[in-house]
Amino acid sequence: MTSNSSAIVLLGLGSHAPKNRLTNLELSKKVDTSDEWIFSRTGISERRIASDEEATSDLALCAAQNALKDADVLPDEIDLVVVATITPDMTFPSTACLLQHKLGLRNVCCFDLEAACSGFVYALDVADALLRSGRYKKALVVGAEKLSSIIDWEDRSTCVLFGDGAGAAVLGRDGAGPRLDGFLCGADGANPSLLCQPAGGSSRPASNETLTRREHFLKMNGREIFKNAVRVMEYAGRTLLERHGLTPDDVDHVIPHQANRRIVESLSQRLSIPMDKFYCNLEKYGNTSAASIPIAMDEARRSGIFKSGETGLLVAFGAGLTWASAILRF
Ligand code: COA
Repeated sequence: MTSNSSAIVLLGLGSHAPKNRLTNLELSKKVDTSDEWIFSRTGISERRIASDEEATSDLALCAAQNALKDADVLPDEIDLVVVATITPDMTFPSTACLLQHKLGLRNVCCFDLEAACSGFVYALDVADALLRSGRYKKALVVGAEKLSSIIDWEDRSTCVLFGDGAGAAVLGRDGAGPRLDGFLCGADGANPSLLCQPAGGSSRPASNETLTRREHFLKMNGREIFKNAVRVMEYAGRTLLERHGLTPDDVDHVIPHQANRRIVESLSQRLSIPMDKFYCNLEKYGNTSAASIPIAMDEARRSGIFKSGETGLLVAFGAGLTWASAILRF
C-alpha cells in the first residue's frame, strides 16, 4: 500500500456485526417466504440482528475500536467524528455524540450524516474535504445501522433484505494506507416514497394513526428501486472514472453497496467490469445500508486481495435517491 503525504489516506478499517444470525430458513418460519425465493432473487442467505440491548452506537463503537486499533491511532488523536446512519439511537442528540462519549473523546466535532445506503461514501467525501481544509487532523468515519429496528417483520417484501452492522475508517493526512483519490456524490429527491420511513418526522409525527398504519417501518417499491439502483450506480461509477481520466478497465476492485446480487451483476454488465472484480459479502449480512461498504471493504482488505498500486472503486445508491462513488489507490 502506498502513502502520499499530500493526500487523505485510510489509516485503518474496522467492522462489527452482531452475533445473532437470522437465516432464510428461520425467516421462512416467520413470514410466507422461502430460502429459494430469497436467495434466487437477492443472493442473501442470512443476516445479523442486534439484540434489544444493542443500539446503533454500540455497533458503531465496536467497529470504531477495531478501526482505531488497525490504524494504531489513539482515540485522543481523533478530532472529527462522522456517523452515517438512518437508524440513529434517537433523533437527537446525534449518534456521533453518543459514540464520542463511549470512546471517551474530548474536544471533537461530531455529527451524523444521512444519505441512506450512500451514507458512508458521502461521509468519506465530507471528512476528506474537512481534513484537506486543515481544520481537522484525524477523522473517524462510521457507517452503522440497526435496520432491524425499522423493519416491518410482517412485510415479506422488505424484511428479508436487511440486516444490522457497522464499519469504520480512520482518515488522516499522513501515513500508510489506501489513498482517497476522488468522489462523486449526487441525489434526486423527486420520488421520496420509493424508499422511506414515512412517519416519525415533522411531516407525520408519531400518533396512534401512524402506529396503526405501520408507518414507522421502512416502505419500499422494490422494482423501481432496483431499476434506479442499476442506473445511478452505473452513472456514479462511469462518471467518476471519466473525470479522473480512467476507464472501467483501469479498475482492479469494485466494492459496491451490498443490496442485491442481481443489482451488482447488472452493474458489472453495464460497466463491463467482470464480476470477479466485485467484492460481495451480502450473502452473509444482507443489506446493512450505510454499513455495507465499510464492512465489505474491511473484509476484502483483511482477505489480502488489495495489492499495492491497484485501483479500487466504491459505488453506492440509497434512499433519496442518493448515489456516491469514490476512487481508492492502494
Ligand atoms: N418471499 C416470497 N415471495 C415474495 C417475497 C418473499 N420474501 N417478497 C415478494 N414476494 C412475491 C411478491 O408478492 C410477488 O408476488 P406476485 O407476483 O404474486 O404479486 C412476487 O414475489 C414477485 O415480486 P417482485 O416484486 O416482482 O419481485 P422482484 O423480482 O422484483 O424481487 C426484490 C423483489 C425486492 C428482491 C427486488 O425488487 C429488489 O431487490 N429491489 C431492490 C431493493 C433494494 O435493493 N432496496 C434497498 C435499496 S438501498
